[in-house]
Amino acid sequence: MKLSIKHFFVLPALIILMFSSCSEKNIKTAEIDIIPKPVSLQKGEGVFEIDEDTKILITGPSLRKGAEIFSGIVSASSTFKPEIKLTEDGSAKSGNIIISLSGLSEKYGNEGYSLDVTPDNITIEAAAPAGAFYGLQTLRQLFPPELEKKGGKTEEWYVPAVKIFDKPEFKWRGQLLDVSRHFFPVEVLKMEIDHLSRYKMNVFHLHLTDDQGWRIEVKSYPKLTEIGAWRVDYNDLPWWKRPPQKPGEKATYGGYYTQDQIREIVQYAADRFINILPEIDVPGHSQAIIASYPELSCDEGKYFVATGGVFKDNTICPAKDVTYEFLRKVFEEIFPLFPFQYFHIGGDECNKLQWEKSPACQQLIRKEGLKDEKGLQSYFITKVEKIINGLGKKMIGWDEILQGGLAPNATVMSWRGEKGGIKSVKMEHDVVMTPNNFCYLDLKQGDPALEPPYGYSKLWISKAYSYELIPKSFNREESDRILGVQGNLWSESLQNERDINYMLFPRLLAIAEVGWTPKKNRHWDDFVKRLEYNLIRLKNLGIVYAPSMYNVNVTKDKSGKIILSTERGGLPIHYTINGPEPSVRSELYSEPIFISDTTKALKAAAFHDGKRIGRITTYVNGKIKDLYSDKDK
Ligand code: ACM
Repeated sequence: MKLSIKHFFVLPALIILMFSSCSEKNIKTAEIDIIPKPVSLQKGEGVFEIDEDTKILITGPSLRKGAEIFSGIVSASSTFKPEIKLTEDGSAKSGNIIISLSGLSEKYGNEGYSLDVTPDNITIEAAAPAGAFYGLQTLRQLFPPELEKKGGKTEEWYVPAVKIFDKPEFKWRGQLLDVSRHFFPVEVLKMEIDHLSRYKMNVFHLHLTDDQGWRIEVKSYPKLTEIGAWRVDYNDLPWWKRPPQKPGEKATYGGYYTQDQIREIVQYAADRFINILPEIDVPGHSQAIIASYPELSCDEGKYFVATGGVFKDNTICPAKDVTYEFLRKVFEEIFPLFPFQYFHIGGDECNKLQWEKSPACQQLIRKEGLKDEKGLQSYFITKVEKIINGLGKKMIGWDEILQGGLAPNATVMSWRGEKGGIKSVKMEHDVVMTPNNFCYLDLKQGDPALEPPYGYSKLWISKAYSYELIPKSFNREESDRILGVQGNLWSESLQNERDINYMLFPRLLAIAEVGWTPKKNRHWDDFVKRLEYNLIRLKNLGIVYAPSMYNVNVTKDKSGKIILSTERGGLPIHYTINGPEPSVRSELYSEPIFISDTTKALKAAAFHDGKRIGRITTYVNGKIKDLYSDKDK
């Protein structure tokens, strides 16, 4: 049954019937709170009901996979599974969802779409399958949040009438997951890919190698996974306090992806229009490589896969032919697994200690007329770029690849702030912006005293959301060199799916919108409203996200009085002094508080609809009590 305002006027008898059936059915439609925010959106009247008769009609086989994924999502929490049918023409058909490809590539580009929901039908139009898939992701967010409920079964699904046109501002909307510092199984990567696809992100960067583990099978170098994928299990010690492996100790902790598993992940991502960007991080961060093949180090010493922390002797040797032969063979073997045109070479934080001590490196510096070890790094990266380009891929690297001169065709990922990115654009190179002060997802989402022991420092969601990718001084041509944005999740302190999700959410939604929606259309209050509706969806998915924007923060005014606030803003804060946990009946915060005796504990929390939201902040002796460590006890 489709509910249409038009029908209400035409058939009065039916009105009564419908109103009675509606109230009995308690129609639940979604709020229209789409993330990332579409380019344009007009609300219509009435709702479309999707039921067991609704079909998904597609105008070409390239649309089938996206339709199947969508149908699977609907069936996971309803009593029916929409059937998918090929159709000759894409004109609207009553009672169905019609997905069509048009020739309007000027209008839509590869990733744009229009979505039109009326009480009679739903139409999605795009110029390419990726755009149609994004139209379906938007439609997914127009369903009530129960759609995302794991194992839930709802009989009625209503979608509010709306007309949307949408396309992304930037073509690179990525997220990095560090699978070296901790190894995560294939199922966790698929979960991550699902997250990215929900918010129309399109690059999943896998940091596959580092000092603490090599994570991809290479048949021509089997020791990379026999030795390089395993380390001594010191997980009970803090990352920075772990001793190096000693001779005789067993390396049992780790893992790697077989080439078949990589194919499976790449396909799963491709079905969701996500490119997998593989990174092999050289010439630094290479301790797992030289532990496996010591001949690739400068001094051919005895190395072990790192157990945590940062180690200095972790470079491969740029003065040896075997180093380039190794990289060529590894690339030849793994490049065919990854269809994405880009390959990430790392290049960050390369410690030059070994190169300074190595006679071969020093001789090479003199022979090539290089200025110093930075020049040697540039020599290495330029040589490796030739191999990469020769094998048909574009090279991308961290902004340290600027040191000593940038390789001729390189794309730069700017992580140490935006400086490297801006400099690269001025040198006419493409750039992906991922400055750590806006995009590092391993930074804590709130006051460290109120956060669990993941990550360090802090990056609030409002700051991530405020990121303006294009510097104001850039002209059109320079702006076009900024391909997009990426959030990076390093995993030193993350061991499983739960830890990952806590650090990703809700901040990933801010990064997704930074990449999709022009800055002029992004406003914090509007984002928060849409975010909160999406938080219901995340909760239904079983995701435990950081509640940090609801936690009460403490600052002081000039006279020393205490100011209470939340990052979210606009919520009542209740507090007690030397009393029990705050409730809605406790004192309502309205102006800065003076506490004469600082040993008295101030306990404060924010409330929403009469319920506490976020954690309880306890402020005593001039600081917030640490909820997750013993240091205040
Ligand atoms: C990095 O965070 N070292 C790229």
